[in-house]
Amino acid sequence: MIPRRGDNQTVLITGCSRGIGRAIAERFAAEGYHVIANDLDRQAGDLASLKAAIEAAGGRCDTLFADVSDPASVEALVSNALKLSPRIDVLVNNAGVLSVFNVEDIAPDEWDRIFDVNAKGTFLVTKALLAHFRANGKGRIVNIASVGGKRGAPGQAHYCASKAAVIRFSQILAQEVAPDGITVNSVCPGIIDTDMGRNNYPDEASLQAVKDKTALGRLGYPEDVVGAAAFFASDDAAFITGQALNVCGGILFD
Ligand code: NAI
Repeated sequence: MIPRRGDNQTVLITGCSRGIGRAIAERFAAEGYHVIANDLDRQAGDLASLKAAIEAAGGRCDTLFADVSDPASVEALVSNALKLSPRIDVLVNNAGVLSVFNVEDIAPDEWDRIFDVNAKGTFLVTKALLAHFRANGKGRIVNIASVGGKRGAPGQAHYCASKAAVIRFSQILAQEVAPDGITVNSVCPGIIDTDMGRNNYPDEASLQAVKDKTALGRLGYPEDVVGAAAFFASDDAAFITGQALNVCGGILFD
Protein backbone atom coordinates (compact mmCIF):
# COMPACT_ATOMS: atom_id res chain seq x y z
CA MET A 1 0.00 0.00 0.00
CA ILE A 2 1.28 3.49 -0.85
CA PRO A 3 2.21 5.36 2.36
CA ARG A 4 -0.12 8.22 3.24
CA ARG A 5 0.97 11.34 5.10
CA GLY A 6 -1.28 10.60 8.07
CA ASP A 7 -0.19 7.00 8.59
CA ASN A 8 0.72 6.35 12.25
CA GLN A 9 -0.42 9.84 13.21
CA THR A 10 -3.33 11.05 15.31
CA VAL A 11 -5.32 14.26 14.97
CA LEU A 12 -7.69 15.75 17.54
CA ILE A 13 -10.35 17.91 15.87
CA THR A 14 -12.82 19.99 17.90
CA GLY A 15 -16.41 20.69 16.91
CA CYS A 16 -16.32 18.32 13.98
CA SER A 17 -19.69 16.56 13.87
CA ARG A 18 -20.80 18.73 10.94
CA GLY A 19 -19.75 21.48 8.56
CA ILE A 20 -16.12 22.39 8.01
CA GLY A 21 -14.86 20.28 10.93
CA ARG A 22 -16.57 17.16 9.62
CA ALA A 23 -15.03 17.66 6.17
CA ILE A 24 -11.62 18.10 7.83
CA ALA A 25 -12.14 14.91 9.85
CA GLU A 26 -13.07 12.91 6.75
CA ARG A 27 -10.06 14.28 4.83
CA PHE A 28 -7.61 13.52 7.63
CA ALA A 29 -9.04 10.01 7.99
CA ALA A 30 -8.62 9.48 4.24
CA GLU A 31 -4.99 10.55 4.62
CA GLY A 32 -4.49 7.79 7.18
CA TYR A 33 -4.73 9.75 10.43
CA HIS A 34 -6.44 8.23 13.44
CA VAL A 35 -9.12 10.87 14.00
CA ILE A 36 -10.26 11.77 17.50
CA ALA A 37 -13.43 13.70 16.83
CA ASN A 38 -14.88 16.06 19.42
CA ASP A 39 -18.17 17.87 19.69
CA LEU A 40 -20.83 18.77 22.26
CA ASP A 41 -22.86 15.86 23.62
CA ARG A 42 -25.96 17.27 21.93
CA GLN A 43 -24.23 16.46 18.63
CA ALA A 44 -24.02 12.75 19.52
CA GLY A 45 -26.01 11.62 16.48
CA ASP A 46 -23.88 13.55 13.99
CA LEU A 47 -20.67 12.47 15.69
CA ALA A 48 -21.77 8.81 15.52
CA SER A 49 -22.54 9.19 11.83
CA LEU A 50 -19.09 10.73 11.23
CA LYS A 51 -17.44 7.78 12.98
CA ALA A 52 -19.53 5.33 10.93
CA ALA A 53 -18.66 7.11 7.68
CA ILE A 54 -14.93 7.13 8.43
CA GLU A 55 -14.94 3.47 9.48
CA ALA A 56 -16.98 2.46 6.41
CA ALA A 57 -14.25 4.07 4.29
CA GLY A 58 -11.59 2.02 6.10
CA GLY A 59 -10.41 4.77 8.46
CA ARG A 60 -10.09 5.02 12.22
CA CYS A 61 -12.19 7.38 14.33
CA ASP A 62 -12.92 7.75 18.04
CA THR A 63 -15.33 10.30 19.44
CA LEU A 64 -15.19 12.37 22.60
CA PHE A 65 -17.80 14.78 23.88
CA ALA A 66 -16.57 18.01 25.45
CA ASP A 67 -17.41 21.68 25.61
CA VAL A 68 -14.26 23.50 24.52
CA SER A 69 -15.27 26.61 26.45
CA ASP A 70 -15.21 24.75 29.77
CA PRO A 71 -11.77 24.21 31.36
CA ALA A 72 -12.72 21.00 33.22
CA SER A 73 -14.35 19.56 30.11
CA VAL A 74 -11.22 20.36 28.08
CA GLU A 75 -8.93 18.73 30.65
CA ALA A 76 -11.06 15.57 30.42
CA LEU A 77 -11.06 15.77 26.61
CA VAL A 78 -7.29 15.87 26.35
CA SER A 79 -6.70 13.27 29.04
CA ASN A 80 -9.21 10.88 27.38
CA ALA A 81 -7.73 11.59 23.95
CA LEU A 82 -4.29 10.62 25.25
CA LYS A 83 -5.76 7.38 26.57
CA LEU A 84 -7.09 6.62 23.08
CA SER A 85 -3.78 7.52 21.46
CA PRO A 86 -0.57 7.84 23.47
CA ARG A 87 0.70 10.24 20.82
CA ILE A 88 -1.25 13.12 19.30
CA ASP A 89 0.46 14.77 16.35
CA VAL A 90 -2.03 17.38 15.19
CA LEU A 91 -4.65 19.58 16.87
CA VAL A 92 -7.30 21.29 14.77
CA ASN A 93 -9.24 23.89 16.76
CA ASN A 94 -12.38 24.12 14.66
CA ALA A 95 -15.26 24.50 17.14
CA GLY A 96 -16.90 27.87 16.70
CA VAL A 97 -20.11 29.83 17.13
CA LEU A 98 -21.54 32.89 15.41
CA SER A 99 -24.39 35.29 16.02
CA VAL A 100 -25.34 38.47 14.23
CA PHE A 101 -26.11 41.65 16.17
CA ASN A 102 -25.14 45.26 15.77
CA VAL A 103 -22.95 46.36 18.65
CA GLU A 104 -25.66 48.11 20.64
CA ASP A 105 -27.66 44.87 20.61
CA ILE A 106 -24.87 42.53 21.73
CA ALA A 107 -25.75 41.43 25.26
CA PRO A 108 -22.67 41.11 27.47
CA ASP A 109 -23.43 37.40 27.94
CA GLU A 110 -23.58 36.95 24.18
CA TRP A 111 -20.18 38.62 23.79
CA ASP A 112 -18.84 36.18 26.39
CA ARG A 113 -20.47 33.15 24.72
CA ILE A 114 -18.85 33.92 21.38
CA PHE A 115 -15.45 34.61 22.93
CA ASP A 116 -15.68 31.61 25.27
CA VAL A 117 -16.01 29.14 22.40
CA ASN A 118 -14.01 30.80 19.63
CA ALA A 119 -11.11 32.39 21.50
CA LYS A 120 -11.01 30.80 24.96
CA GLY A 121 -11.85 27.36 23.55
CA THR A 122 -8.92 27.57 21.16
CA PHE A 123 -6.67 28.68 24.02
CA LEU A 124 -7.86 25.97 26.44
CA VAL A 125 -7.49 22.97 24.13
CA THR A 126 -4.14 24.23 22.85
CA LYS A 127 -2.82 24.86 26.35
CA ALA A 128 -3.90 21.41 27.50
CA LEU A 129 -1.90 19.75 24.69
CA LEU A 130 1.23 21.90 24.75
CA ALA A 131 3.18 19.83 27.30
CA HIS A 132 2.46 16.73 25.20
CA PHE A 133 3.66 18.37 21.98
CA ARG A 134 6.77 19.72 23.74
CA ALA A 135 7.59 16.27 25.10
CA ASN A 136 7.27 14.84 21.58
CA GLY A 137 9.48 17.58 20.14
CA LYS A 138 6.84 18.09 17.46
CA GLY A 139 3.26 19.25 17.05
CA ARG A 140 1.03 20.87 14.49
CA ILE A 141 -1.67 23.26 15.65
CA VAL A 142 -4.17 24.43 13.04
CA ASN A 143 -6.70 27.01 14.17
CA ILE A 144 -9.81 27.67 12.10
CA ALA A 145 -10.17 31.45 12.32
CA SER A 146 -12.00 33.50 9.67
CA VAL A 147 -11.43 36.24 7.12
CA GLY A 148 -13.63 38.13 9.59
CA GLY A 149 -10.67 38.11 11.96
CA LYS A 150 -8.82 40.32 9.50
CA ARG A 151 -11.61 42.46 8.16
CA GLY A 152 -15.22 41.73 8.99
CA ALA A 153 -18.75 42.80 8.28
CA PRO A 154 -21.34 44.87 10.18
CA GLY A 155 -23.32 42.79 12.67
CA GLN A 156 -20.34 40.61 13.52
CA ALA A 157 -18.13 42.80 15.73
CA HIS A 158 -18.07 40.24 18.55
CA TYR A 159 -17.49 37.27 16.22
CA CYS A 160 -14.82 39.04 14.17
CA ALA A 161 -13.06 40.28 17.32
CA SER A 162 -13.00 36.70 18.63
CA LYS A 163 -11.47 35.47 15.37
CA ALA A 164 -8.93 38.31 15.35
CA ALA A 165 -8.00 37.05 18.82
CA VAL A 166 -7.47 33.55 17.40
CA ILE A 167 -5.18 34.88 14.67
CA ARG A 168 -3.06 36.98 17.03
CA PHE A 169 -2.99 34.22 19.69
CA SER A 170 -1.70 31.84 17.02
CA GLN A 171 1.02 34.24 15.89
CA ILE A 172 2.34 34.80 19.40
CA LEU A 173 2.12 31.13 20.35
CA ALA A 174 3.99 30.22 17.16
CA GLN A 175 6.97 32.19 18.44
CA GLU A 176 6.79 30.69 21.94
CA VAL A 177 6.71 27.05 20.84
CA ALA A 178 8.89 27.10 17.71
CA PRO A 179 11.99 25.94 19.60
CA ASP A 180 10.16 22.70 20.46
CA GLY A 181 9.28 21.87 16.85
CA ILE A 182 5.66 22.98 17.14
CA THR A 183 4.01 25.02 14.39
CA VAL A 184 0.86 27.10 14.78
CA ASN A 185 -1.09 28.40 11.80
CA SER A 186 -4.58 29.72 11.15
CA VAL A 187 -6.93 28.98 8.29
CA CYS A 188 -9.25 31.89 7.50
CA PRO A 189 -12.31 30.72 5.56
CA GLY A 190 -14.56 33.13 3.71
CA ILE A 191 -18.28 32.38 3.51
CA ILE A 192 -18.69 28.62 3.54
CA ASP A 193 -21.93 26.78 2.84
CA THR A 194 -22.59 25.25 6.28
CA ASP A 195 -25.26 25.73 8.95
CA MET A 196 -23.23 28.66 10.24
CA GLY A 197 -22.70 30.20 6.81
CA ARG A 198 -26.39 29.85 5.91
CA ASN A 199 -27.58 31.29 9.23
CA ASN A 200 -25.37 34.27 8.63
CA TYR A 201 -26.84 34.92 5.19
CA PRO A 202 -30.39 33.56 5.50
CA ASP A 203 -31.97 34.95 2.33
CA GLU A 204 -31.08 34.72 -1.35
CA ALA A 205 -30.42 38.47 -1.65
CA SER A 206 -27.79 38.50 1.11
CA LEU A 207 -26.24 35.31 -0.28
CA GLN A 208 -26.06 36.83 -3.75
CA ALA A 209 -24.43 39.96 -2.31
CA VAL A 210 -21.69 37.79 -0.82
CA LYS A 211 -21.22 35.89 -4.06
CA ASP A 212 -20.95 39.22 -5.91
CA LYS A 213 -18.18 40.28 -3.52
CA THR A 214 -16.27 37.04 -4.07
CA ALA A 215 -13.87 36.93 -7.03
CA LEU A 216 -14.69 33.28 -7.72
CA GLY A 217 -18.42 34.13 -7.62
CA ARG A 218 -19.67 31.46 -5.26
CA LEU A 219 -19.84 30.37 -1.63
CA GLY A 220 -17.15 27.99 -0.46
CA TYR A 221 -17.88 24.39 0.41
CA PRO A 222 -16.45 22.70 3.51
CA GLU A 223 -14.28 20.63 1.14
CA ASP A 224 -12.69 23.88 -0.07
CA VAL A 225 -11.23 24.46 3.40
CA VAL A 226 -9.81 21.04 4.20
CA GLY A 227 -6.76 21.21 1.94
CA ALA A 228 -5.34 24.18 3.83
CA ALA A 229 -5.79 22.42 7.17
CA ALA A 230 -4.24 19.20 5.85
CA PHE A 231 -1.33 21.17 4.39
CA PHE A 232 -0.55 23.02 7.64
CA ALA A 233 -0.66 19.67 9.46
CA SER A 234 1.78 18.04 7.04
CA ASP A 235 5.54 18.00 6.77
CA ASP A 236 5.16 20.06 3.58
CA ALA A 237 4.46 22.94 5.98
CA ALA A 238 7.39 22.20 8.31
CA PHE A 239 8.91 25.66 7.68
CA ILE A 240 5.63 27.58 7.92
CA THR A 241 4.39 28.96 11.23
CA GLY A 242 2.49 31.97 12.53
CA GLN A 243 0.61 32.36 9.26
CA ALA A 244 -3.07 33.07 8.63
CA LEU A 245 -4.14 31.81 5.20
CA ASN A 246 -7.34 33.07 3.58
CA VAL A 247 -9.45 30.37 1.93
CA CYS A 248 -12.18 32.66 0.70
CA GLY A 249 -12.50 32.58 -3.08
CA GLY A 250 -10.93 36.04 -3.19
CA ILE A 251 -13.45 38.03 -1.17
CA LEU A 252 -13.25 41.63 -2.32
CA PHE A 253 -13.85 43.68 0.78
CA ASP A 254 -15.76 46.94 0.18
P1 NAI B 1 -21.07 24.81 12.16
O1 NAI B 1 -21.96 25.60 13.03
O2 NAI B 1 -21.65 24.04 11.04
O3 NAI B 1 -20.19 23.80 13.04
C1 NAI B 1 -19.58 24.23 14.24
C2 NAI B 1 -19.36 23.02 15.10
O4 NAI B 1 -18.76 23.44 16.35
C3 NAI B 1 -20.69 22.31 15.45
O5 NAI B 1 -20.57 20.93 15.25
C4 NAI B 1 -20.87 22.67 16.92
O6 NAI B 1 -21.62 21.71 17.65
C5 NAI B 1 -19.43 22.75 17.39
N1 NAI B 1 -19.32 23.50 18.64
C6 NAI B 1 -19.91 24.68 18.94
N2 NAI B 1 -19.63 25.03 20.20
C7 NAI B 1 -18.85 24.05 20.70
C8 NAI B 1 -18.23 23.85 21.96
N3 NAI B 1 -18.39 24.73 22.96
N4 NAI B 1 -17.48 22.75 22.15
C9 NAI B 1 -17.33 21.84 21.14
N5 NAI B 1 -17.89 21.99 19.93
C10 NAI B 1 -18.64 23.08 19.72
O7 NAI B 1 -19.97 25.83 11.64
P2 NAI B 1 -18.90 25.74 10.46
O8 NAI B 1 -19.34 26.67 9.42
O9 NAI B 1 -18.60 24.35 10.13
O10 NAI B 1 -17.65 26.42 11.21
C11 NAI B 1 -16.49 25.70 11.62
C12 NAI B 1 -15.43 26.73 11.98
O11 NAI B 1 -15.16 27.54 10.84
C13 NAI B 1 -15.85 27.69 13.08
O12 NAI B 1 -14.75 27.99 13.90
C14 NAI B 1 -16.28 28.92 12.31
O13 NAI B 1 -16.20 30.09 13.08
C15 NAI B 1 -15.29 28.90 11.17
N6 NAI B 1 -15.71 29.66 10.01
C16 NAI B 1 -16.88 29.35 9.34
C17 NAI B 1 -17.26 30.11 8.25
C18 NAI B 1 -18.52 29.85 7.47
O14 NAI B 1 -18.88 30.67 6.62
N7 NAI B 1 -19.21 28.74 7.67
C19 NAI B 1 -16.44 31.23 7.78
C20 NAI B 1 -15.24 31.44 8.55
C21 NAI B 1 -14.91 30.69 9.61
